[in-house]
Amino acid sequence: MDVISVIRTKRDRGELSPEQIDWVIDAYTRGVVADEQMSALAMAILLNGMNRTEIARWTAAMIASGERMNFDALSRPTADKHSTGGVGDKITLPLAPLVAACGAAVPQLSGRGLGHTGGTLDKLESIPGWRALLSNEEMMHVLDTTGAVICAAGDGLAPADKKLYALRDVTGTVEAIPLIASSIMSKKIAEGTGSLVLDVKVGTGAFMKNIEDARELARTMVGLGTDSGVKTVALLTDMSTPLGLTAGNALEVRESVEVLAGGGPADVVELTIALAKEMLDAAGIKDADPAKALADGSAMDHWRRMIAAQGGDPDAALPVAREQHVVTAPESGVLTRLDAYGVGVGAWRLGAGRARKEDPVQAGAGIELHAKPGDTVTAGQPLMTLHTDTPEKFEYALGALEGTYDIAPAGTAFSATPIVLDRIA
Ligand code: URA
Repeated sequence: MDVISVIRTKRDRGELSPEQIDWVIDAYTRGVVADEQMSALAMAILLNGMNRTEIARWTAAMIASGERMNFDALSRPTADKHSTGGVGDKITLPLAPLVAACGAAVPQLSGRGLGHTGGTLDKLESIPGWRALLSNEEMMHVLDTTGAVICAAGDGLAPADKKLYALRDVTGTVEAIPLIASSIMSKKIAEGTGSLVLDVKVGTGAFMKNIEDARELARTMVGLGTDSGVKTVALLTDMSTPLGLTAGNALEVRESVEVLAGGGPADVVELTIALAKEMLDAAGIKDADPAKALADGSAMDHWRRMIAAQGGDPDAALPVAREQHVVTAPESGVLTRLDAYGVGVGAWRLGAGRARKEDPVQAGAGIELHAKPGDTVTAGQPLMTLHTDTPEKFEYALGALEGTYDIAPAGTAFSATPIVLDRIA
């Protein structure tokens, strides 16, 4: 087998054989295939695609590059959720303890933010003492005793994907549906969950800007999960507007705790409950009521135990950025658009996100929204508050926020986009 013939096959729109796929993934993981050769192959895949057989084999080869976890010893069925990433997407934080409170075990291997989308681990690390890095034994222990664990994936899980994802990130090859689907599903299948709910985001703040691409990604991932014996369902959800009223690490933890306390913004509550119902259904738990578990404090109780089991203090004050800047409405009327991408880039520029994997993030940085599309606003009222420890970043963030919202004359009709756009099972 030689790598040049593999690259030529895909460059010339051919189908990669199972042997070619197994060999190239293994050889790349071992360092026998060089980064420049793999990036040529990734670009050929982005341009010419892969069929369902190729995608399934590619995913299987990435799973085989590392270890597989197994939760069979647990007394509860497992359910996991994966979001393709968005702005203000803090849903994992209230969702994992909520689903645990309803009787499932939730092993949630999560990531860090890159670019304008936030990362669950960065958000939780704003809680004093909380640890994202757990050994497999610690992860099992937290899951078994509290019903939910949110932690970083160990180095042993799908190492081929770790290497390939970092390469795609710097070679303009992230946006290939076969590569996104196999990347996400190889980690989820190797993790060993019995059921999986995918939250595929659609809109300006998401990878998938239009619903047709999102449907194709969702169908591909649901097919991969189902073929591997993981009960998999996808919801396509709106990411043209930020979720909730906050984008930024500690700001989003605060909002998640509000949801767990029975309050919080309506869109965050709606999506949390919709995903919880899907997870419980996929896990075969029929008689639980997630709305009740939010209202009666049992989800909050699981949150507190989960945070404490990972070294965090659920009662500690969250970090607050040193400086604030308020953006006011330039005119009165109805807010008809608030662009998720612009808000995401603004929060990132304030220090909530990172440009490179090794960059630190500011726990208190981000954007707090005071109005959402459909709200009536008055000239001079606060529209958003920007938070950062480094005030020289305000100007840079304000640049990203230019043109991100529209205010129409009072009385203009406004019809809200639904949160859940489609379901693929
Ligand atoms: N998230 C992943 O884990 N992989 C991708 O390719 C894209 C998003």
